[in-house]
Amino acid sequence: MGFEEAARDVAGRYRSRPAHYYVRSKLKIDPVSRALHVLAEREPFGSVVDVACGRGQVGLLLRASNLATSLIGFDWDAGKVANANDAAGGLDDVRFEQGDVREVVVPAADTVLLIDILHYLTREEQDDLLMRCARAARKRVIVRDVDPDQGASSMLTHGWEWVTTTLGYNRGARVSPRSFAEITALLEGEDLHVSREPCSAKAMSNVLLVARRV
Ligand SMILES: C[S@@+](CC[C@H](N)C(=O)[O-])C[C@H]1O[C@@H](n2cnc3c(N)ncnc32)[C@H](O)[C@@H]1O
Repeated sequence: MGFEEAARDVAGRYRSRPAHYYVRSKLKIDPVSRALHVLAEREPFGSVVDVACGRGQVGLLLRASNLATSLIGFDWDAGKVANANDAAGGLDDVRFEQGDVREVVVPAADTVLLIDILHYLTREEQDDLLMRCARAARKRVIVRDVDPDQGASSMLTHGWEWVTTTLGYNRGARVSPRSFAEITALLEGEDLHVSREPCSAKAMSNVLLVARRV
């Protein structure tokens, strides 16, 4: 299934109106889902773990397109997890669970996704989570996050995250974006080969990092 068709299918799965409109616009505006779809068409993701999956639309897009063979997602927001499980109806080998990323055992999988979660954690928590994900990933770890080293657009992205967290739209303890050079060094230390590319809506400063097992 191509990206556009998969995005329509996935948005149509959310029966709660707010979740449906959120997912529909998120899949349209944020380039990360399309970027992952393109990447998985080149190198299918196999079994996928989506860490801090939110409403689950990224993993569901991959699973509905048969670019992931199975999907486990977790997030500490019970409402989002309920939306995700509801939307997963009819898809095999998909489950979403409530859990705190600072404590859960990351299950072994071919691909581990960390999309827009690291900056909610302290440096120590980020290091710990990255290590656990690197060790759980048989083939790749994929990180998308704010790049703090891009001047004005970093400040804009950082500010937007602060607004969504403060308003309670995203439950997160803090906003502390981490240098991608440091994330790269940590993952390379776990025998992963890292590449990075920009992955942002206009004027923002997000980066997509792919760390592959060598
Ligand atoms: C910006 S959203 C990204 C959600 C999803 N990855 C996506 O791409 O749509 C960040 C998510 O992290 C979750 N989160 C923040 N801190 C968490 C923690 N300690 N444990 C589990 N989930 C957490 C929030 O509930 C929220 O769903």
